[in-house]
Amino acid sequence: MVRPVIAGNWKMNKTVAEAIDFASRLRNALITPPEPEVIIAPPFTALHAVAELLRGSPISLAAQNLHEAEKGAFTGEISGEMIREAGCEYVIIGHSERRTLFGEGDERISRKLRAALSADLRPIFCIGESLREREEGQMQNVVERQLKEGLNNLTAGDISRSLVAYEPVWAIGTGRTATPAQAEEVHQLIRDWIAGRYGNEQAAEMAILYGGSVTPKNIADLMRQPNINGALVGGASLDVGSFIQLLGY
Ligand code: 13P
Repeated sequence: MVRPVIAGNWKMNKTVAEAIDFASRLRNALITPPEPEVIIAPPFTALHAVAELLRGSPISLAAQNLHEAEKGAFTGEISGEMIREAGCEYVIIGHSERRTLFGEGDERISRKLRAALSADLRPIFCIGESLREREEGQMQNVVERQLKEGLNNLTAGDISRSLVAYEPVWAIGTGRTATPAQAEEVHQLIRDWIAGRYGNEQAAEMAILYGGSVTPKNIADLMRQPNINGALVGGASLDVGSFIQLLGY
């Protein structure tokens, strides 16, 4: 049985003060640890302060990106070691906004996955097709290509530390959630691909999250699908009340 995971991706939202306010309210609300693993991904600037505040709580921290090099002349970038030291256990890699707005391709994303793992971070590896790709019948090809290229060179041990998030681009920030059946179809495909490459055991243990317009209203139906192990939530994770509601499905 995979423990469910609910992760909030704040994207470029919240100052340090706002992040601290959210995290302390969340911590106070979760005196009894909830069933799912709870992760929040504040912007880089708030990570350290939020990590201090969440120390000893059941809430884990993720960064939203990292640079693939260990260190060096990469103005404006942040390394895995820095993220780990700031208090993160997870890092989101390959988000569609990174792919489309910042030109990250599969090869770069693969290097980022390896950098995360060698910095002892657990990657939340995002994949998903665009509306056009879906309409052209390319969904399966795109998802399998992203898996193959992204997970290139990863060992079974690496895979057991990784999570996959299926985020169809057409569902992100649009209010147009994939139906539970649409999402389940792709999650099954992802699990089958992992099983084919790494074996049934690795596949059965992998947390595969769905992302794209998840709200307190639609989460329960999504979470009832056998291959959906959690959610990566953008907009609805920004309000602490709504995020807490999501944790109870
Ligand atoms: P929304 O929940 O705002 O659609 O964003 C999803 C997402 O991109 C999470 O990473």
